Amino acid sequence: MSYLTMSGIALENEYEKERAKFSALMAQNLQLDLSRGKPSVEQLDLSEGMLSAPLTGEDCITEEGIDCRNYGLYEGLPQMRRLFSELTGVPEAQILVAGNSSLALMYDTISRAMIFGLAPSPRPWCFEEKRKFICPAPGYDRHFAITQRFGFELITVDMTDTGPDMDTVERLVAEDPTIKGIWCVPMYANPTGVTYSDETVRRLAKMKTAAPDFIIMWDNAYSIHDLDADGDKLLDIFSEAEKYGTEDRIFYYTSFSKVTYAGAAVAMMAMSINNINIMRPIQAVRTIGYDKINQLRHLLFLKDAETTRAHMKKHAKIVLRKFRILYDVLQKELGDKGIAEWTNPRGGYFISMNTMDGCAKRTCELCQMAGVILTPAGATFPYGIDPRDRNLRLAPTYPVDEELVKAGQVLACATKLATLEKLLQKRAF
Ligand SMILES: Cc1ncc(COP(=O)(O)O)c(C=O)c1O
Repeated sequence: MSYLTMSGIALENEYEKERAKFSALMAQNLQLDLSRGKPSVEQLDLSEGMLSAPLTGEDCITEEGIDCRNYGLYEGLPQMRRLFSELTGVPEAQILVAGNSSLALMYDTISRAMIFGLAPSPRPWCFEEKRKFICPAPGYDRHFAITQRFGFELITVDMTDTGPDMDTVERLVAEDPTIKGIWCVPMYANPTGVTYSDETVRRLAKMKTAAPDFIIMWDNAYSIHDLDADGDKLLDIFSEAEKYGTEDRIFYYTSFSKVTYAGAAVAMMAMSINNINIMRPIQAVRTIGYDKINQLRHLLFLKDAETTRAHMKKHAKIVLRKFRILYDVLQKELGDKGIAEWTNPRGGYFISMNTMDGCAKRTCELCQMAGVILTPAGATFPYGIDPRDRNLRLAPTYPVDEELVKAGQVLACATKLATLEKLLQKRAF
């Protein structure tokens, strides 16, 4: 029954019941973590073949005669660029394969713009008296952290079911030249799971910006992380941008962190040819070349787009099972209470949950008391402040199934208690 229609006495009874349940959960001394979107051990084991395959010196010579054991080939192995091209639809010529972390590449882009400026910049960004960045929220805390660290004012724009609220984005970027860019996770967004609609992608490509050097940070981290057989489809932003002559504003990223090994995989970035030509001499001073042996290991294991997609289906089976476990507990415990809602995404790594306004922080606090770590309430918003204190990012992939059930029960109980405390204006613990 919904808490919102219960009488005062019924709420008091419910509160006593949940308090007793919570005490019993606390007594179990749990130590569970629903906070970071890490692959489970079961998922990591899917790529065991990459570690166990023998690799000889001879294998390190590619068909073009490139010796992967040696310096050079700054833009990455041609076969790896081809694989990323097949998977993303971005032409090979626009792709650079670089290092193990796409987040590091995003940091580099902002850092480069700060120090050197971008092609159309009147001056390096560090000389701008004011600089701002649009942060669709709920969004990815580490994106927001990069621009915060470089002294940008973070501007919150609401995430909707079709992507960022484009009316607001268009209005802001058209009138304010200090707004230098926007963070986007266009497929199975972290944490809402939303895939941008065709209209959103078109509007981002087409919109007029007051800043000549406005950029779209297109972090397509979950582009091949479907959970359904028929995954979401995302419009190709480079093709759209070409129609309006805005290709230079697109900076595209993805990696195999959640395909093979988180932190030990291969990352790529893509941009217009114009931007590649500008960036290359700057970035090439930084390194003579990235780890081609790791690229080769990945190529021998993942082979081509088809094999990679088949590998992702194995991930999907595991991730979907975990999502369902948490989803089912939440549905069973909270489904009829009218006090929270949560997403049921078709891909990606997260479930996004909204409590009643003003209850997310307290829910987190109660979870922590019972030994369940959640991503701190507010983390999905710029500066860590959720104006409605209601959003929680849940990452179900890492815990084993039994732990996930327990963590879900604690979360549900904590949500109920936090809400009851608010409705009854008291504090249980
Ligand atoms: C949206 C998004 N982008 C990037 C990353 C990190 O990617 P990488 O491991 O390639 O640095 C994550 C990790 O959770 C993520 O959720």
